[in-house]
Amino acid sequence: MTTSAPAPLSVADMTLRPATLEDAAFASDVATAAQPRDPEDPLLWRNWWKDEELVLQVERFIVWLEGRAVGFALRRHPSEASERFERLSAELLPPARTTARLQALLALLESRAAAEGARRFTAWAWDRDGLLNGALAKRGFREERRQRYWELHLGRNRERLERMTSDSRERMRAQGIRILTVAEDDDPEKYQKLWRMTDEAERDIPRSTPFVASPFHAFMEWMRSPGLREDRTWIARVGDSIVGISVLSYPPVRGNVATDWTGTARSARGQGVARALKCETVLQAIDLGVASVRTDNDYQNAPILHLNESMGYEPLGEKVMYLKRAEGW
Ligand SMILES: CC(C)(COP(=O)(O)OP(=O)(O)OC[C@H]1O[C@@H](n2cnc3c(N)ncnc32)[C@H](O)[C@@H]1OP(=O)(O)O)[C@@H](O)C(=O)NCCC(=O)NCCS
Repeated sequence: MTTSAPAPLSVADMTLRPATLEDAAFASDVATAAQPRDPEDPLLWRNWWKDEELVLQVERFIVWLEGRAVGFALRRHPSEASERFERLSAELLPPARTTARLQALLALLESRAAAEGARRFTAWAWDRDGLLNGALAKRGFREERRQRYWELHLGRNRERLERMTSDSRERMRAQGIRILTVAEDDDPEKYQKLWRMTDEAERDIPRSTPFVASPFHAFMEWMRSPGLREDRTWIARVGDSIVGISVLSYPPVRGNVATDWTGTARSARGQGVARALKCETVLQAIDLGVASVRTDNDYQNAPILHLNESMGYEPLGEKVMYLKRAEGW
């Protein structure tokens, strides 16, 4: 039996066809061409698309123009949430990338989401991205919050980082806190403990949308991401408990080495654990010959802003999170 493919959607001068996981690499090429300062890795994108399906309902399209694939359009919302926030994104290859086309794609995504009960829409754009900011403003999106991006030059900061790491190691020893990698940890319960600690810390990230918890199997998929390795995932232990994690993602094909996640247990905050863990990740990156690493965090997350600045990270720019209420809400 054969099933016919769903009819493509048309918007402005573009056609949209449903995307599959095989299209993630193309989507990463589009994102890279649109923002060359931030190359995106095709394998990480495929993995990200696969993993988000574990906790989100997603709809993805590849955008065609004059017989050529030129972009993507995505929308997703948590599978379970009391209030429906729908995250939208649309991207096009230059020179097809115009405010009018981005606006048309956003309008289409909004109307499909609203028809399924979405109450709020969110979307992200680099603050320097005039075209996308313009499209979002024209669709009635308003700035809600920002994510700050940073870069740390490992060559120029090497001495400072080595000194800080050595001080941190001493501070951890004095407090009875063990710093090691997941690979070195022989606790059979380590993954469950890390998952619970991560869940606790993630709830404390400043946000404007409801928190979406990751079930254990989704956490384990994240641990198996092609950018992460257990011998590069640094954790802190106090006796039987795991009280912190920090890990850099190393993109396998292209892009920047960047912090994927740093978090500490509420019981261990303010004792230098996050600094100690971040220091180990960057010292390891220096040993591996990496020239610079990136990190990003919410613009109101005071402890991590302070930590990044004191390690020598320099601000690279900010992404704006936009919010819009669906009509009638
Ligand atoms: C951010 C987080 C990882 C910090 O962990 P931590 O183990 O408490 O961090 P440390 O003790 O190593 O360092 C915190 C630093 O911030 C400082 N700090 C704490 N609160 C602060 C505030 N409100 N304003 C300014 N600085 C602050 C501390 O004094 C310390 O600096 P110091 O070493 O110069 O004294 C932890 O709060 C957390 O897990 N938050 C939730 C998850 C999160 O936001 N992750 C990071 C971004 S995704």
